[in-house]
Amino acid sequence: MCEQVNVNLGERSYPVFIGRGGLNTIGDKMDKIGMSGKVAVVTNPLVYELSGKQVTKSLEMAGFRPIVIKIPDGEEYKTLNVASNIYDKLVEHQIERGSSILALGGGVIGDIAGFVAATYLRGLPYIQVPTTLLAQVDSSVGGKTAVNHPKGKNLIGAFYQPRAVIIDIDVLKSLDIRDIRAGMAEVIKYGIIRDADFFSYLEENMDEITGLGDGILYAIKRSCEIKAEVVAADEREEGLRSILNFGHTFGHAMESVTEYKRYRHGEAVAIGMVLAGEISQMLGLCSEAAYSRVKGLISKAGLPTESPTVPFDKMLMAMELDKKVQNQKMRFVLMEDVGKVIIRKLEKADLRSLVSP
Ligand code: GLY
Repeated sequence: MCEQVNVNLGERSYPVFIGRGGLNTIGDKMDKIGMSGKVAVVTNPLVYELSGKQVTKSLEMAGFRPIVIKIPDGEEYKTLNVASNIYDKLVEHQIERGSSILALGGGVIGDIAGFVAATYLRGLPYIQVPTTLLAQVDSSVGGKTAVNHPKGKNLIGAFYQPRAVIIDIDVLKSLDIRDIRAGMAEVIKYGIIRDADFFSYLEENMDEITGLGDGILYAIKRSCEIKAEVVAADEREEGLRSILNFGHTFGHAMESVTEYKRYRHGEAVAIGMVLAGEISQMLGLCSEAAYSRVKGLISKAGLPTESPTVPFDKMLMAMELDKKVQNQKMRFVLMEDVGKVIIRKLEKADLRSLVSP
């Protein structure tokens, strides 16, 4: 069974296909949307080992000529240098205007391959084939592409939409449970920011979903629907799209002060969402009950809820480098209830009194 969600952006609209065994259908799907010729498959050695052959076979059967470009695995390789190595390979293999790029991997691969697709020959069509839960429900949809700068994550990038996203749920079976849980943080986020019924569904079915039972298909589909809706309303994050950053300003700061070693991205976001919920309650924006439900569900998903002990000023410095800071006032996504969030500007002093013990 294959579900489809559409990201509606006029002539740049594209489908997100979600189902089991989707890797075998990549070639056909790309053929149907009018692509042909050479496809540069950007991946990493581990993902290639698990899924690479299945993907290149599917491409070849549909008449494409795949070229595999492997980059090292890890956030520390999402750099301009590594992007430059990919450009070298594209030149070497004579990838031209009619060719395309396929990102096969997690968020790092999707971001850097998307960035290369946005910039090489002023833009090549690309396809996202996300292989982690986090990438399936978040980074592969919405066209944010980027590489990191030594001073901050995702500081160099472009909004550039893929032609399609192909999500194969079967690939999740090879993931560590820790990575499934990390991805669940973003799934929970969608319930908090936009859909109280979905949040209740997650409360009732969390064990079944993290165990990759049938509920995972619905959880991914609903997450992609919400993301697609928000992106269609505000592609370039001039307003509404920033609600997708719920818990992320704190989360990014926690990742940065712990040098990206202690937490998976989703784990840092989980702690960040608990903190955002706690601050919302302290400011009287949401009830204690709403905050407890958020903390309870995050904990039920097996995610951390407690902030690491880090000096407040260190966290503040990391937050100030975040792209979301405007005129030195920090903008936070806070919650009014489960399913409803608002954007609030907070002064540093207010934040200090709320966050410091
Ligand atoms: N991950 C947040 C966004 O795509 O806007």
